[in-house]
Amino acid sequence: DDHDHHDGNDDHELRVSKIRDGTVIDHVRGGQALNVLAILGIDGTNGEEVSVGMNVPSNRFARKDIVKVEGRELSQDEVDVLSLIAPDATINIVRDYDVVEKHRVERPDVVEGVLSCPNAGCITTGDEPVTSRFSVLEDGVRCSYCETIVRDEIASLIDT
Ligand code: CTP
Ligand code: ZN
Repeated sequence: DDHDHHDGNDDHELRVSKIRDGTVIDHVRGGQALNVLAILGIDGTNGEEVSVGMNVPSNRFARKDIVKVEGRELSQDEVDVLSLIAPDATINIVRDYDVVEKHRVERPDVVEGVLSCPNAGCITTGDEPVTSRFSVLEDGVRCSYCETIVRDEIASLIDT
């Protein structure tokens, strides 16, 4: 069976094999693939079948990263956080080798319960259970409780 009919003219540049069932996170900003894995909670110790391409040539950007996760589809929360570090990413759902769904990530206005505030004095990091809440800025996120702004290290705030 020939499953290659879905690829454009970039076949000769395919670096990582196609997957059978799962999710391809494509057009990730070059250098962000490991942060994508962190957001998905993937470190390889649970036997996850994952392929990663880093800084591979791309038409849309000079370089892109790509992450292929076998046997898993992503939750909306995960996609929301991905959008913060990979604003131009495409999420491709693959079933039986075919891309059955493709959508661009969208930056939400707010992310709740997925990032933890780096401010030790913030009410969300205390003993009382307060769900974290960040508003999404053009170039980072801001804690809705203590106003702390994080720009470059968003991936390090991910609750695991
Ligand atoms: N892919 C894969 N395994 C499959 C099918 C697709 O790993 N069984 C990957 C392709 O290599 C590509 C991405 O999923 O990186 C999207 O596939 P497709 O839509 O066929 O490619 P394009 O048309 O090039 O995607 P786009 O227009 O989003 O760049
Ligand atoms: Zn805070």
